[in-house]
Amino acid sequence: MSCARYKHLLFSILLLDFTFTNQFIQAQTLIGPNFDEALLPFGSHAITGTLSTHCNRHEFDGTIPFTLRNNCPFTVWAAAIPGGGRQLQTNEAWVINVPSGTTGGRIWGRTNCSFDKSGRGNCQTGDCGGVLQCVTFGSPPNTLAEFSLDQVNHLDFFDVSLVDGFNIPMEFTPTSNGCSRGVRCAADINGQCPKVLKVAGGCNNPCTVFKTDEYCCSNASTSCKPTNYSKFFKGQCPDAYSYPMDNANSTFTCPGAGATNYAVVFCPS
Ligand SMILES: *[C@@H]1O[C@H](CO)[C@@H](O)[C@H](O)[C@H]1NC(C)=O
Ligand SMILES: *[C@@H]1O[C@H](CO)[C@@H](O)[C@H](O)[C@H]1NC(C)=O
Ligand SMILES: *[C@@H]1O[C@H](CO)[C@@H](O)[C@H](O)[C@H]1NC(C)=O
Ligand SMILES: *[C@@H]1O[C@H](CO)[C@@H](O)[C@H](O)[C@H]1NC(C)=O
Repeated sequence: MSCARYKHLLFSILLLDFTFTNQFIQAQTLIGPNFDEALLPFGSHAITGTLSTHCNRHEFDGTIPFTLRNNCPFTVWAAAIPGGGRQLQTNEAWVINVPSGTTGGRIWGRTNCSFDKSGRGNCQTGDCGGVLQCVTFGSPPNTLAEFSLDQVNHLDFFDVSLVDGFNIPMEFTPTSNGCSRGVRCAADINGQCPKVLKVAGGCNNPCTVFKTDEYCCSNASTSCKPTNYSKFFKGQCPDAYSYPMDNANSTFTCPGAGATNYAVVFCPS
């Protein structure tokens, strides 16, 4: 597909994002341009958008650079699947090259970690099995940047999710190509967190705390709805996922196949 054909491309998507406790299951249904919005289940609605035309594919080596920057006044141990992990002091950045075509990709920040020379230890939030170089997802609570690259119509799909709770503020934005709509979740969620969800360093998702079908969307025969706790998260960060089937307007797209680079900032100013 030529770059010019991205222009004014109308698209509809449905992205389902299920998380129960530490076990992550993501089901994505990506629906093409001429899909009838009325057919979308779960009350989600189609996102319609205009895409930009600038494509700069020359020298595309099959990977997409993601720049992870720590703007927090404290050290963050960045984690990425795929990518691993790295300690980031305040103002430090780390560039990871993510293969185009990656699905279910995830970036998060870990706090209050301590690792030995071999990269073993633990973190107060976001810990991934006690290793610096993550090969599995982190434990809640952790604010998530999620992405699937170069999917239907060569589009990238991305979001910020609070479905696994919140530990640090995050911004996830495209950084090239004129595709500029990103997601920012910088509210003081830890400060406002309902008492029952509060833990050291973060604000838990209700599924982790209550483990019920209602909060975890774990009953396949019923579609889940917003809950009083998911409404708290949505109120704090309206553009982020707040419960597993919060598909309405929390997923964003940019041209894929090397056309768009990304940045994730911890504690955006
Ligand atoms: C790290 O832990 C200390 C002691 O529990 C706490 O005061 C501090 O806020 C934590 N830092 C972060 C970034 O969560
Ligand atoms: C799932 O929900 C249905 C409909 O509310 C209910 O009848 C069923 O018992 C639930 N299943 C489980 C495993 O809780
Ligand atoms: C949410 O609903 C549950 C169950 O009805 C209730 O126990 C809890 O207090 C509510 N929490 C808030 C923050 O309203
Ligand atoms: C998504 O919906 C919420 C209200 O539910 C609204 O506050 C927010 O601005 C919407 N975000 C986008 C990107 O339209």
